[in-house]
Amino acid sequence: MSKQVQELLEAYDETQYSLRPQTLKEFIGQETIKERLHIHINAAKQRKQALEHILLVGPPGLGKTTLAKIISNEMGGGFKSAVGPTMERLDLATILTNLEAGDILFVDEIHRMKGYVQESMYPAMEDYKIDLPVGQGPSADIITVPLSRFTLVGATTREGLLSGPFQNRFGIRIHLGYYTDDEIQIAINQYSNRLQPPVEIEEKAERELACRSRGTMRIAKNLLLNVRDYATVKSTGVITHAVAQEALEFFSIDELGLDKGDRDYLSTLIEKFSGRAGLKSLAVAVSEDERTIEEVIEPYLLKIGFLSLTPTGRVAADPAYAHLGFPSPQDAQPTFF
Ligand code: ADE
Repeated sequence: MSKQVQELLEAYDETQYSLRPQTLKEFIGQETIKERLHIHINAAKQRKQALEHILLVGPPGLGKTTLAKIISNEMGGGFKSAVGPTMERLDLATILTNLEAGDILFVDEIHRMKGYVQESMYPAMEDYKIDLPVGQGPSADIITVPLSRFTLVGATTREGLLSGPFQNRFGIRIHLGYYTDDEIQIAINQYSNRLQPPVEIEEKAERELACRSRGTMRIAKNLLLNVRDYATVKSTGVITHAVAQEALEFFSIDELGLDKGDRDYLSTLIEKFSGRAGLKSLAVAVSEDERTIEEVIEPYLLKIGFLSLTPTGRVAADPAYAHLGFPSPQDAQPTFF
């Protein structure tokens, strides 16, 4: 990689990183969660002990990784991270044996960690030790290696996919919820000041972006960055309310914050399947993988009442028909009497 590209990437990372809050105080919203974490963190610090293992649960983009980093900052220890699906037993052993006392090990998508890797985590979490095979084949010996007192912070969009015994080994379980428009507006204001160079944005434009962020901080940040580009090229660089509206229209984000992918999902469900379909058929029809549908598209549609999950499949609700301009299913049904 050329030096110039490397410098650009580093500068980019720095931009992204500096947008993230570094302390609980700077983290916007999730008030009860912050209070709980404040108590657990300060109790552990007073006792000079490691924090209990923490499971962060919630839809994508609500700040689980940011919170994990904040927990590490507040505890003052090291931070190591890993991604669940790709981890093998040996990778886990290498990571665990290199941890120092008080370190946070953050595992994203922990529900996608292989079952046998999850199981090898149990003694590490409970007794701070790990069994390692020495030699190969059936005659291999097992040695038990002691570990430092670390804290595992797991993040998941699907708590139910973690086995019961694994869930129970997390002493602290936290569920993040969607943000209010007010909270997101405050974050957009902060992001615009922290960007390099800072971007000028009208209050009404902040509100417009906030209302179309689907209660999700990551979407708010991405909308701001996209609209900033639009304002730079198509206007003076200032994000006025008019420029924000024009840009959102250009990027196909509607008044509720739904993007083309959300609308394709709903219109396919309504038009192709008369409003009711199974996950597999829907996934094929919209050319999207089942996991993205379940973990990214559906949670917000469920939250705003556009969709319900029933034993006979996904069902589009009345407000979804109205939003997309389809006649309500009741009106469309033929009358026999
Ligand atoms: N970035 C991600 N989550 C955030 C939050 N809750 N407040 C501010 N910035 C964030």
